[in-house]
Amino acid sequence: MAYALIPYPCYIANALPRGLFFLTLQRFNMKAAVIHGPGKVTCDNVDDPILKDERDIILKVTATAICGSDLHIYSGGFPQPRPMVLGHEFMGIVEETGKQVKNLKKGDRVVVPFPIACGHCFFCNHDVPGNCENSNPENYGPEGGLVKEKGGALFGYTDLYGGYDGGQAQYVRVPYGDYGPRKVPDNLTDEQVLFLTDIFPTGYTGIDWGNLMGGETVAIFGAGPVGIMAAKSAWLKGAGRVVIVDTIQYRLDKAKVAGQCETILWEDGKDVIEQVRAMTEGRGADLCVDAVGFEPDRNFLDRAKAVINIEKGSVKVLEACMSAVRRSGFVSVLGVYPTHYDNFPVGQFFDKGLTIRGGQAPAHKYIDKLLVYVKEGKVKLDDIITHRLPLTQIADGYSLFKKKEDNCVKVVLDPWAA
Ligand SMILES: NC(=O)c1ccc[n+]([C@@H]2O[C@H](COP(=O)([O-])OP(=O)(O)OC[C@H]3O[C@@H](n4cnc5c(N)ncnc54)[C@H](O)[C@@H]3O)[C@@H](O)[C@H]2O)c1
Ligand SMILES: [Zn+2]
Ligand SMILES: [Zn+2]
Repeated sequence: MAYALIPYPCYIANALPRGLFFLTLQRFNMKAAVIHGPGKVTCDNVDDPILKDERDIILKVTATAICGSDLHIYSGGFPQPRPMVLGHEFMGIVEETGKQVKNLKKGDRVVVPFPIACGHCFFCNHDVPGNCENSNPENYGPEGGLVKEKGGALFGYTDLYGGYDGGQAQYVRVPYGDYGPRKVPDNLTDEQVLFLTDIFPTGYTGIDWGNLMGGETVAIFGAGPVGIMAAKSAWLKGAGRVVIVDTIQYRLDKAKVAGQCETILWEDGKDVIEQVRAMTEGRGADLCVDAVGFEPDRNFLDRAKAVINIEKGSVKVLEACMSAVRRSGFVSVLGVYPTHYDNFPVGQFFDKGLTIRGGQAPAHKYIDKLLVYVKEGKVKLDDIITHRLPLTQIADGYSLFKKKEDNCVKVVLDPWAA
């Protein structure tokens, strides 16, 4: 942390015995990305985090990234009523440890999985840390409703998900620091391991849910960072053919190289479904992955429909997945959906006999195995990075990524660069 030796103010010094020169330690405020409302993220000076629990650690962040999930807060789709430090993809050096943290010490270099999970409740014991019963006491519950009874906490992800400050900052408090963070070897750079925090385990989760036996056709909707990580994971899990779909050509170009996959440009959803069926003797893909979520590209009609139905965004990509998958196939929903949607094709789900699985990825479950893949060179993660910016330029980072300007795919931020 940044410290300075500061003399006591004069009025205190004057009241002290003459000849004594008093100095004290003062923490400077740190820099952090703060959301102030839709479309407004700025780099502010905020208070440094402090240990609040004996299982906490304070991490000096050395690299952090913007996730497609952050864009849902940025767009207002996930409202955040008060200013909050964003960011759930981060890594760094342990600065301080709470008394109960025995497995880490100051100076250790770690990556941190994005769900905040206690490590010993019912759901943590069942390998689904996103449902942790202890990390989000204010807003947790079994219902999973629109504005009540959500899941476990996430770093920097609105008050509904725990209200914890995130890691797009120079320092971050990491609760349950003895459970989430994983040490990383010195010979790997930050960029080589940063995406173990979220998007690589997330992409891998979507493929793991698809029960591949080897040789299957996987169709991934969304060629953003999550979709590309799903493509990389599909090859690791033995897929025979991987195709990725997006509405934006430059994203497909990136996916083709980084994900080594075939591509389909979504100009009209029906045509995409026909192309996937044509690749699979008319049956459909064995596994479809929705890596887009509730805020796909939408025309005026889509937007009007959402207003009339009082829905947030659209479920059209999930519907396309359910059409493009073969009978008795698998659909993995990695893209986020915050509300209920009427007209959900439950009849099609039943008739085709689909297995649909979705939710926050259990990053803790996969991170150790995936770190081994990175160490062994079986997968390369940093080839999706298109922009490296100082944290001070966070506003530009969000804007570029949201508007998909300058061929942006993934923005990594350096909290310490001038
Ligand atoms: N489940 C999890 O644990 C988890 C973790 C990380 C991210 N996510 C979610 O995954 C989704 C993707 O994240 P990302 O970082 O890749 O974001 P992103 O916004 O960069 O990527 C989304 C991609 O979808 C494309 N797209 C838009 N409309 C489309 C359509 N009709 N058909 C096909 N593609 C379309 C966009 O052009 C973009 O390339 C987001 O909803 C994010 O919140 C979920
Ligand atoms: Zn994320
Ligand atoms: Zn738990």
